[in-house]
Amino acid sequence: VIALIFTVLIGYLLGSISFSYIIAKKIKKVDIRQHGSGNAGATNTLRVLGLGPALSVLALDVLKGVIAVWIGAMVAPDETGLFPALAGFAAIIGHNWPVYYGFRGGKGVATTIGVLATLLLLPALYAGVVAIISIILTRYVSLGSILFAILTPIISFIFLDYFAYPVVYAYLALVVALLSIWRHRTNIQRLLARSESKIGQKS
Ligand code: G3P
Repeated sequence: VIALIFTVLIGYLLGSISFSYIIAKKIKKVDIRQHGSGNAGATNTLRVLGLGPALSVLALDVLKGVIAVWIGAMVAPDETGLFPALAGFAAIIGHNWPVYYGFRGGKGVATTIGVLATLLLLPALYAGVVAIISIILTRYVSLGSILFAILTPIISFIFLDYFAYPVVYAYLALVVALLSIWRHRTNIQRLLARSESKIGQKS
């Protein structure tokens, strides 16, 4: 139980480090959450600060998801995969509700990419390809994010026997997808109203 609490806590504290917040403060001395969409994430960093900072945020927010899963795997390297899954989930929760920044964070997309690509590489890769194509075609990052979140568990469950991943990972992906849909609820409303901001467009 202590190992479990430790894993979840470390994952949460790691996930709570908001790189969009840190980089926006450093470069422009602004709170990223008061600009653009108000979201503390890579997409909004692109809007507010440009491509270079956005790519750094993306990479670092992905990395914290990867590291959280690694820590979980090191604490309990058993076959169920429970610890890496919980550590990854805790990192996503930390990103969305960070303890250091008044619990107002991002939508967890980059961290979700890190977590799912570490746990479910092939499903995440296939879902990622579809997501990237959809972003290129529509220029809606949120739509690509939602597609990635939804497709990863679907692919994982359909090919569960083939990929031979622990079933816990597929369930994690499902929970993360539901969380992601909920976090994107205002984006979904804007997408339906055709008023969602596109990449390269001032919001
Ligand atoms: O990274 C989150 C993305 O899917 C949407 O971000 O800032 O457009 O709400 P944003």
